[in-house]
This record gives sequence, structure tokens and C-alpha cells, in this order.
Amino acid sequence: MKIREKFLSLAVPDISEEEKKEVMDALDSGWISVGPKVKEFENKFAEYHGVKHAVALSSCTAALFIAAKVLGITKGDYVIVPTITWQSTANIAEQLDATPLFCDVDVDTLNICSEDIQDHIKQYGSKIKAIIPVHHSGLPADIDEITKISEKHGIPVIYDAAHAVFSSYRNKMIGQYGAMSAFSFYATKNLTTGDGGMITTNDDDLAEQCRLWSYHGLPKDSWKRYSAENASPHVQSVVPGYKLNLTDLQAALGLAQLRRKEDLLSKRNFLVETYNKFFEDSDWIDTPVFQTEHGKWGNHVYVIKILDDDINRDRLMQELRKLNIGTNLHFYPVHKNIYYEKKYPDVKLPASEWLMDRILTLPLCTKYSVSDLEYVRDSLDYIYENRLANKTQFV
Ligand SMILES: Cc1ncc(COP(=O)(O)O)c(C=O)c1O
Repeated sequence: MKIREKFLSLAVPDISEEEKKEVMDALDSGWISVGPKVKEFENKFAEYHGVKHAVALSSCTAALFIAAKVLGITKGDYVIVPTITWQSTANIAEQLDATPLFCDVDVDTLNICSEDIQDHIKQYGSKIKAIIPVHHSGLPADIDEITKISEKHGIPVIYDAAHAVFSSYRNKMIGQYGAMSAFSFYATKNLTTGDGGMITTNDDDLAEQCRLWSYHGLPKDSWKRYSAENASPHVQSVVPGYKLNLTDLQAALGLAQLRRKEDLLSKRNFLVETYNKFFEDSDWIDTPVFQTEHGKWGNHVYVIKILDDDINRDRLMQELRKLNIGTNLHFYPVHKNIYYEKKYPDVKLPASEWLMDRILTLPLCTKYSVSDLEYVRDSLDYIYENRLANKTQFV
């Protein structure tokens, strides 16, 4: 097989002249930290998701942390999370001296199991202060069921919407659900600001608290203290806040990306359909679920499952790497991470542990062409046909 020259990484950012123009505009304006472009990005994002408030932050991790902080999560509390997620979802509970209660996921959708949420509630009751489901790959979690549980037990929901900027549920944008949702604009995300995050909420008080805690504990609009009309030396902390804001340089990228959302999404849809066609007859590759009864996928990552038990998934990744293809895992279960396994050795989640050795994320981004995807398909076929990643080797 002829090896391609250029490394095909999992995803590269799609930055057009529009983003560059917007960043230059920020550079020329004199506002490069938090300023008018951040405010404009927040407003446009809130409008797109149909919510009252959007608070821009330095990452989704920061957004999850601040969301949990303003719900008052603290020492001795419990927080429900899925184990198939990026570590941040659970790390933020640990950072607040709370305990994450891991749930298994559905093997098809990779989203949190409602039964496991119920089981934890039976055991820990009112000590549970939040449920943090993830919309994995942008496929909405079972929001109807989660809302029922949340309302019945009075436990607020923070949705980890890191993958779900373009996702909707019951024809409403995903940011409208739960007490708050946390989005990511990391470099490989479907909408990027390099690094960045957003909290959406319809709750005025929560929004205000998020602003306070993420910006030194200073009152609303204190970033304007450097402008001529608002200059005042007397900005005072109301709470001992953190410094986790987005900057105007990043928001400039976000504004341009948001304007290009239809283009970005339709390109992704096309590439995803291309992959789906490639693998529709495969008996060793299972393709992702794109739609549930009410949830519409946001096309973030393309996660396949290896159905042939004789394939060593890690070896497959190495073989793909030799052919200049980068892959990833979304995700290695958090409860199997060094820190968590040591601290919570009794956690056993069979579906996630089955998935652990079978999931594989293939390259997907709007900069890639059909021929890039063909190369991925041909490489997978080549490795499979030549048994390069098989556990059983014949001599
Ligand atoms: C499900 C999930 N949650 C949270 C995060 C954290 O996002 P960020 O890198 O913006 O902090 C990620 C990052 O990839 C993620 O995939």
C-alpha cells in the first residue's frame, strides 16, 4: 500500500479568510483580552441556541467547573457523571472536593444510562448535587428521561455539551436544556476558538453567578473599566472569583466560525455520510448512531466500534499511524484512569469496559476531502485483510 506523505491527523481547524479578518479587526481595535467581541460572541451564541444567557469562558473545563461551583457543589457532595467522557467532567467534581459517581453508557449511543443514574440516587439520595450527562459526539443524551429524574428528585442538570454546538433535541437547540450547558471550542471541535468554552442558561441568577466567579468576583461589565466612558479604579470583588474568561482574539475566531456554521455543518454531514457508505457492508466495523427519537447529531467525532474480537484495537491504531493516519479514543473510561482507579477501585461498568477496547475515532474535519476518507477506508481494509492488527497470528 502506498503511504500518503502528509500525516492525516484526527482533525485540523478550518480557518478561512473570514476568521483572519475578524482577528485582525480585534488586533487593530486595541481590545485583545475580554471586551466587545466576547460580548458580541456571547450574544450571537445565546441567540443561536435560543437561550437568555451565554457566558464565554476559557474552556469547557472552566465552564463545567464554574457551573458546578455556582450550584454550590462542595466537600461531601456527590455528582453523577458518565464514565465515557473526557476527564474534565469528573475532574471538576474532585477539584471541588466532591465525589463523582460514575455511570455506564449505552453501547450504541455512548450516552449515560438513566438506570445507573436512578441506582445512584437510590443509594446517595440528597447528597447528590448535580447530574452531568455528556452529549457524546454531539448525539443528545436522553434528555426527556434525565429531566424527569432531575425534576422528581430536585437535582439540577449541567449538560456537558462539549461536542454539541450544532446539536438539537425536540427541534430546540441543545443549550436550552438543563440548569446550564457547557460547550467547548477547543482546536479540534466543530466550532473552534483555539481554546474556549461557553455556559448557556435561562436562569438570570446562575448567569450572574457564573460571570462573578469566572472573572475575579467582579460585578458585571467590570471589563469596561479600561474604556473612556466607564473608567473607574473602584472595581471590587464580591466573591473570591477565578480568572477564566475568553479573550477578544478568541471570540473573533468564534464570531467568524458561528457565521460559517451552515457551511461547517453541511461539510461535516457530507463527510459523515461518506464514511457511513464506506462501512455500511462491513461486518467488523460498526458505525455511530446519528439520530435518536428526538435528538439530532451535531457531527463532532466519528467513533466506530471494532466488532471483530480478534482485532487488537491499539495495534490497529499503531498500524494506522504507520500509514500516516492519526486516530483517537472518545473515550477511555474515566474510572479506569490511574487516579480514579486507585481512588475508586470497586467501580465496575461492564458496557464501558467492553467499549474500552473497541472504540476508535477516525479523522474527521471540514478540511478533509473524500479522497482523505478513502485513504482511511483503504488503510483499514489493508490492515484487516493482511491481519496486521490481529491477536491471533499464523506462522
Ligand atoms: C466531553 C468533553 N467534556 C469536556 C471537555 C473539555 O473541553 P475543553 O478542552 O474545552 O476544556 C472535552 C474536551 O474534549 C470533552 O470532550
